[in-house]
Amino acid sequence: MSATERHDVSLRAWNTFGVEARAARLFEVDDAADLARLAQALRDGPPPFVLGGGSNVLFTRDPPMPLVRIAIRGRRVLSEEARGTVLVEAGAGEDWNDFVGWTLGQGLAGLENLTLIPGTVGASPIQNIGAYGVEMRERFHSLDAVSLRDGALRRFDAGECRFGYRDSIFRHDEGAGWAIVAVRFRLMREARLRLDYGEIRDELRALGVDRPTPQDVSRAVAAIRRRKLPDPAKLGNAGSFFRNPVVEAPLADALAARHPDLPRYPVSTAVRDAQAADEAQLARGASGAGTPEKGRVKLSAGWLIERCGWKGFREGDAGVHERHALVLVNHGTASGAQIAALAERIARSVRDRFGVALEPEPTIV
Ligand code: EPU
Repeated sequence: MSATERHDVSLRAWNTFGVEARAARLFEVDDAADLARLAQALRDGPPPFVLGGGSNVLFTRDPPMPLVRIAIRGRRVLSEEARGTVLVEAGAGEDWNDFVGWTLGQGLAGLENLTLIPGTVGASPIQNIGAYGVEMRERFHSLDAVSLRDGALRRFDAGECRFGYRDSIFRHDEGAGWAIVAVRFRLMREARLRLDYGEIRDELRALGVDRPTPQDVSRAVAAIRRRKLPDPAKLGNAGSFFRNPVVEAPLADALAARHPDLPRYPVSTAVRDAQAADEAQLARGASGAGTPEKGRVKLSAGWLIERCGWKGFREGDAGVHERHALVLVNHGTASGAQIAALAERIARSVRDRFGVALEPEPTIV
């Protein structure tokens, strides 16, 4: 099999915002070796843009570069390790939520809190997806990527990926130009469930579950997400549009003095810290309010945006979700440029009112 090439393709169905844009050239590859050959063939032109599930991109114009859609499939158990851990691998083009369901079906725990996140397996390391007290990096083992400059194949371990909050090397210049083709995860036969974030326990209680299994946690997370977050199949969106801002502690303290209900979270740098941070946050209550650790503090972008009056705002077909101020939505025919313009207005108002800069989470093309 070799790469399939198409010309003048509408991207509307290829991005979860559902905005219109046209790709002059779109390649689809379902094999790493084909991708390597394609990279070599394209190497004298502008670097291609890699498209996964289209759930973390906003097209504000017709992309001038070729697009490459990674459709590499496959998922398998690689090895059973000592201490009940199991290595699994999936092709970058696998749907993330289907993959999570498959791991649970194999009797493997670890990804249940990340149920229903839109997108592909290959996109998951790029922004180190996270939800309900778990980040992907805690379950990550390694990945394979193809250089779009020369077609070379390279393996990255966790350290080389330089994961941070919604961040990895692949979002920075040093890691640009790599297309992820396969990802490996280390999962567990014996579940060590992470139940304490926010509403998970309440949801389990509502589901009538006393002794939860990983599948129960997955069901609870799915129920919470369905209630709070819009389904991209029904209302165009890309999940959280902004990352939660990380600010210096004195600014967070000054804001908290004026706004006692301002949610604040400790910032995690390492996996062990992430777990400790979860626990510290829980000890202070689900809102995360309280005295954060010294140094840097994560604030809630949703809270800041809601306080600026944007929740439920709509202008034309571009808007802010009525149940979650961090989610920008396309009610129908908004353009990417209109959504980006709304995002800029929101960020400006948060900066003017609170002195906090918001950074978009999706890649803006
Ligand atoms: N909040 C508001 N108003 C809002 C939304 C949130 O005041 O409209 C405040 C509330 O105080 C709430 C707090 O923000 O308690 C936290 O809200 P939530 O639990 O929804 O989490 P988040 O920080 O807004 C992050 C992730 C989500 C993830 C949830 C749950 C980021 C940028 N977003 O949102 O990820 O599902 O935690 O773990 O870190 C995504 O990345 O696309 C995404 C949906």
